[in-house]
Amino acid sequence: MSPAASPQSFRLAGVIGWPVAQSRSPVLHGHWLSQYGIRGAYLPLPVQPDRLPDAIRGLPALGFSGCNVTIPHKPGVLKLVDRVDPVAARIGAVNTVVVQDDGTLSGFNTDAYGFLASLRDARPDFRAGTGPIVILGAGGAARAVAVALLDDGATDIRLTNRTQDRAQELARIDPSRIHVIDWARRHDALDGAALVVNSTSQGMVGYPPLDLSLDALPATAMVSDIVYNPLETELLAAARRRGNAAVDGLGMLLHQAVPAFEAFYGVRPNVSKALRQAVAATL
Ligand SMILES: NC(=O)c1ccc[n+]([C@@H]2O[C@H](COP(=O)([O-])OP(=O)(O)OC[C@H]3O[C@@H](n4cnc5c(N)ncnc54)[C@H](OP(=O)(O)O)[C@@H]3O)[C@@H](O)[C@H]2O)c1
Repeated sequence: MSPAASPQSFRLAGVIGWPVAQSRSPVLHGHWLSQYGIRGAYLPLPVQPDRLPDAIRGLPALGFSGCNVTIPHKPGVLKLVDRVDPVAARIGAVNTVVVQDDGTLSGFNTDAYGFLASLRDARPDFRAGTGPIVILGAGGAARAVAVALLDDGATDIRLTNRTQDRAQELARIDPSRIHVIDWARRHDALDGAALVVNSTSQGMVGYPPLDLSLDALPATAMVSDIVYNPLETELLAAARRRGNAAVDGLGMLLHQAVPAFEAFYGVRPNVSKALRQAVAATL
């Protein structure tokens, strides 16, 4: 991802979504702007779906360095930028738009990077190729998780989703390494796994917990839940009770912002405990 264009005295970026009030990105980027003493701003930008083309195309004219993109615009922005990074193309969604020096727009997806970085925070020697991986879910977030693990060398991804057609569609990213498993058989799919990832919305505040028995999961396996509100989902609590390493979703949220901040403001920021506390306090 190319860093921000020519040095400007004031750098402007933001997050486009509809609604956007729930986004933690302004807190996150605001924390770094003050930590690094950067002259700039990061704004929540509520954009209705039918105004998305105008908003994206207006970024260079308004002097923006770029923007992040959240629900429901991630797939739509893919078609609006001048070039799409290959990782974003495979995921099928853009979460970061960077305005280049010539005013053209490049689309990236940093969720895959953020997911892997959060696993490495928990276990620095983690390598996706060390054993079978179970991914639950086949939505936008699951696609980013799958691409991250494939690019890190995963050889056996067991993918299960309530709606099997959606899992089959995701498996097309790499049919030789992603194997679709019936949702009814998800509990048994944990047998011999090195990592299990919840990328469904189950367990999120306002939703029921994920219905998953960990009985077949080896004690050495890691359990990752990309849901970050609440931080400690029932899945993670159950994993910790039986001695499995557990990774919450906040790390992914924080790390996905690192390459975007660098592109917007020209500084590679650090994911610190203070940042984690500042964002966790908003949950
Ligand atoms: N930590 C982070 O940085 C981060 C980033 C992105 C997303 N997330 C979290 O990831 C989760 C998924 O986000 P997304 O954007 O991928 O959403 P999405 O595209 O709407 O996908 C939702 C997924 O949840 C499944 N699901 C929904 N209700 C279910 C139920 N009752 N039983 C079983 N599965 C169910 C869906 O299955 P069907 O296909 O059958 O509907 C689908 O796989 C959300 O909780 C989101 O907050 C976290």
